[in-house]
Amino acid sequence: MGDVRLLHGDALDVLRSLEARSVHLVVTSPPYYAMRDYGDVTGRWWPDHPDCWQPYPHEHRGSTSDPSRCMFCGAWYGALGQEPTPELYVRHMVQVFREVKRVLRDDGSAWLNIGDTYAAGGRGPGGGRKQASNRGSVSLGRRTAPSGTKPRDLLLIPSEVAYALREDGWGVWTDVVWHKPNGFPSSVKDRPSRNHEIIWHLTKGPKQRFWSHRFGQPGTRARPKPDHYWLDLVTGRELHVPPDGWEEVTAEIDGEIRKRYQRRNAWRGHHCYFDMEAVLQPLVTDEKRDRRIRYGGKSEKTSTFIPPNPNGKHIRSVLSCSCASYKGAHFAVMPAGIVEPWVKACTSERGVCANCGAPWTRVTRSCDPRPPRTSTAAEQAEWNRAQGFPGGTGCIRRPGGNVGTKRVTETTGWVPSCGCHLPQGPDPAVVLDPFCGSGTVGVVAISLGRSFVGIDANPEYLALAEERIAEAREEQRQLSLFDRDREEQVCQTG
Ligand SMILES: C[S@@+](CC[C@H](N)C(=O)[O-])C[C@H]1O[C@@H](n2cnc3c(N)ncnc32)[C@H](O)[C@@H]1O
Ligand SMILES: [Zn+2]
Ligand SMILES: [Zn+2]
Repeated sequence: MGDVRLLHGDALDVLRSLEARSVHLVVTSPPYYAMRDYGDVTGRWWPDHPDCWQPYPHEHRGSTSDPSRCMFCGAWYGALGQEPTPELYVRHMVQVFREVKRVLRDDGSAWLNIGDTYAAGGRGPGGGRKQASNRGSVSLGRRTAPSGTKPRDLLLIPSEVAYALREDGWGVWTDVVWHKPNGFPSSVKDRPSRNHEIIWHLTKGPKQRFWSHRFGQPGTRARPKPDHYWLDLVTGRELHVPPDGWEEVTAEIDGEIRKRYQRRNAWRGHHCYFDMEAVLQPLVTDEKRDRRIRYGGKSEKTSTFIPPNPNGKHIRSVLSCSCASYKGAHFAVMPAGIVEPWVKACTSERGVCANCGAPWTRVTRSCDPRPPRTSTAAEQAEWNRAQGFPGGTGCIRRPGGNVGTKRVTETTGWVPSCGCHLPQGPDPAVVLDPFCGSGTVGVVAISLGRSFVGIDANPEYLALAEERIAEAREEQRQLSLFDRDREEQVCQTG
């Protein structure tokens, strides 16, 4: 079972005390710009303030006319999210994420959930209605639009942050839209009510960090020489010696004359660890079915919790997940449904090398379960039924040769992605949330057998996190006892 470390303090300061390259994955939802005030405990003097004219070290002190400005150097005191301008917020996010990048392993990645807001513009402070879940928010009282924006403009905060992080060396790998089916309608009548947020997936830059081998050799950290195999597009078989004349042989494939064999490299390079097999979605989604996810004794509605399905399709970039409600004192609880897929995909389920922390990777074998290319629609439907494919649809080859299903992949084992060759098994991967609040990321990480490091400036939220994570641990312990009992019974009867 994974370890838990909950650290009290300012994210930037505590991150600086953590070991470099010690974390496999970061999932976080920091304070959004101009949304909620998390209280005095989250205020700090920010380093490298653009107006600071005194580079030498000194004790900052607020001036009498403006306690948020240092009377000696002009540095700003305040909480992340409460900055007077979006530029300053973006600057502080970059400072925090520079430390996140330092503690993240080179093959790790970060998921950043970040909200947007509208510029002020004569409709009262803040210029627009805030989210329904925004209890406890205080308005910044901005009555003018920030420079460069028009009154009531969308501030594009997630994009501004992503551009700035990219400038600072991060790779912006993908965006995910979190769709909130229970999003609250806004009273503003001249634009749609926002019921989505952006989640960025960030990597540590452009390089490939490790290579895994298609047929189960341990991985490597240095680019290996190609190890070719040949895919027969007619039979779907993978051949390890080149078929005679493979460069010229053609065949009729999906009604077209095409090259029959494709030469492929068994080594695959990775920018960051991502286990697609862990998050495959069903080929046919039943929108009406009520999926529930259970974490830490609480169940919530989501469309993202899906048992791994070897016949599945790749996870999509829109996650539909209702906002979480939590009886504790925290205002902005993340639902487990938007955390779970990324913990599953971006940390190894099997664990990481106990020496160097490299993730173990999945070894898969794929076979082509598709009906013969010559069969009729009726034969295909019958074949689908026999294979147990959902609804007998979704898997029918469409005219023109496109297919409605994919090759089925089966996990045959796990191998390290490093060359340490340790005799002992792997350790759990480490997940970090530098703004952990009530600890949703920790609850998900521990429930999935990973370790967790959480940071928060508010000790009351950390106490909530501790309580929720302890419940998740207990649930996890019961489950593993149950599994062990079952294994013992099987051994005794077998
Ligand atoms: C959006 S909430 C995170 C919610 C969390 N994901 C959850 O599910 O409960 C942001 C959190 O950041 C904390 N916070 C704000 N400024 C901070 C700072 N400078 N350092 C550390 N934590 C801070 C707040 O106390 C709050 O708990
Ligand atoms: Zn100062
Ligand atoms: Zn190793």
